[in-house]
Amino acid sequence: MSTPVKKVPIHLQSSQNRLVIKNGTIVNEDGQTNEDVYIEDGIIKQIGKNLIIPGGTRVIDAKGRFVLPGGIDPHTHFDFEFMGTRTVDDFYHGSKAAIAGATTMIIDFVFPKEGESLLDAYHEYRQKADGKVCCDYALHVCLPRWSEQIKKDMEILCRDYGVNSFKMFMAYDFMLNDGELYSAFEHCHKLGALAQVHAENGSLIAKNAERLLAKGITGPEGHEMSRPEEVEAEAVNRACVIAKQVDCPLYIVHVMSKSASKVLEAFRSGNRVYGETLVAALGTDGSHYRHECFHHSAGHVLSPPLRTDPDTPSALMNYLAQDVLQLTGSDNCTFNQSQKAVGKNDFTKIPNGVNGVEDRMSVIWEKGVHTGVLSLSRFVEVTSANAAKLFNIYPRKGCIAVGSDADIVIWNPDAVRTISAATHHQAVDFNIFEGMKCHGVPDYVIVKGRVCLEEGQLKVVEGHGSFVETPVFAPYIYDPSKLEEVKVEKNGFVEAEYPQLSKLKIQDEYVCPSPTLPESAVSTPSCRGSRPEGQRNIQESTFSVSEELDLERKSCIRVNNPPGGKSSGFW
Ligand code: URP
Ligand code: ZN
Ligand code: ZN
Repeated sequence: MSTPVKKVPIHLQSSQNRLVIKNGTIVNEDGQTNEDVYIEDGIIKQIGKNLIIPGGTRVIDAKGRFVLPGGIDPHTHFDFEFMGTRTVDDFYHGSKAAIAGATTMIIDFVFPKEGESLLDAYHEYRQKADGKVCCDYALHVCLPRWSEQIKKDMEILCRDYGVNSFKMFMAYDFMLNDGELYSAFEHCHKLGALAQVHAENGSLIAKNAERLLAKGITGPEGHEMSRPEEVEAEAVNRACVIAKQVDCPLYIVHVMSKSASKVLEAFRSGNRVYGETLVAALGTDGSHYRHECFHHSAGHVLSPPLRTDPDTPSALMNYLAQDVLQLTGSDNCTFNQSQKAVGKNDFTKIPNGVNGVEDRMSVIWEKGVHTGVLSLSRFVEVTSANAAKLFNIYPRKGCIAVGSDADIVIWNPDAVRTISAATHHQAVDFNIFEGMKCHGVPDYVIVKGRVCLEEGQLKVVEGHGSFVETPVFAPYIYDPSKLEEVKVEKNGFVEAEYPQLSKLKIQDEYVCPSPTLPESAVSTPSCRGSRPEGQRNIQESTFSVSEELDLERKSCIRVNNPPGGKSSGFW
């Protein structure tokens, strides 16, 4: 079965094909500049002062505003069948809400049903998403069991279908045991993929839950009680130890506690271990599990749970600032109150998951930047750039540079909004951040060059987004200075064992988008490295200043390091 190629109409309004953002402060992960940004056909074509641009170009004045890379949410579950029900946010509602909240790309998880192959599940997800997503998306693939067939399907997904990350579970009925994790991590390493784990000790949780239910503790507070911090931290430690045996880069999804973060801190040096925390964990806490209203407390149920230690949100924010944690996701997995009610008399039956895709950027700004804990550049790193790097789509995504996709947010740090389920754009009828006041509101959200949010008006287009392939061997994870070694190993591996892998896509050189104009006409903020396969080049512009000025084009500059420097450790 193959994914049908759907023809998605391009809804770029002619006046929006060409846009210039003037007078704003561009913030990237490596600093700020006061320059204008010219966009054409969805791509950033020029950055600089006094740009020469075609007449009729729409001008957006960003005076007093920050011009940020659109958010990348590396963890969503849209249209997901889970715990006997299905999330209410599908790829349309979910991506629409993402855009409303300044996120311009999401990475969702393919979850194979019982007996379904990884490949069939992947195609099913492509069908669910293509034609519906309002912004670009990529896919991780979950491994609900371990087998030779799964191994083969992983190879095909990496080689032919643009997947470079696989999630394994250490909890739930479909958890892998330590030996299986070992084999799966080993295989990820060989493929140049990133192993992701849901780190909780599933056996201990099952025993704790049994004991609590027997004692008559059936409400949502039992959910947190059965999954205490040490049960998360133990699994994080075990996953790190297993990954280390096979030298596999490891990404811990949804780090929810101080204890788990401390384990990551201890494993940092010399190991390629990355931690993602959730906006839920940064913006609220586990006190809600003791709320008298079942709908309220069940509305906060997710796994690992929110922590009852009230210092957790600020501690996690500090860990983000200190680079113990590198990314923020939403784990958006939304169920209505009626769906959560299935677990009224048994907390183990409450469908796990909360909202966050719409509010992630605002809540992290409020709790991180507004409080002075995160710098502007660190905000960009933890909300977009680091995800783009780890999933190997940087600098196409996650930065504002010539040649990058025009996924841009014009951020008003002075505006304030109050979060509420009554006004949010998600399909779900509950919001875990209800009533939170957030400084920092997007004035404009530009998705692939199209203005999708302006002056409070959301104008998304169903199907405007497309699938973004994530190539294996991300240079931030697999050190490019050792790429030769990796290639040799890979080729040996390919030839000896897996001839079908010979077409595996890897990025083996870094090409800086060419500076086409003199500094006075255009300046690129920095050399940001290669354009992954399939990305357009600035020179494809239908409008060429250099031609108009009869300037000689300079050839591309090749650099040996990935954008931002070498990837030998943590950045
Ligand atoms: O409770 C959660 N996190 N629901 C989504 C599934 C997962 O484990 O990410
Ligand atoms: Zn999980
Ligand atoms: Zn999740």
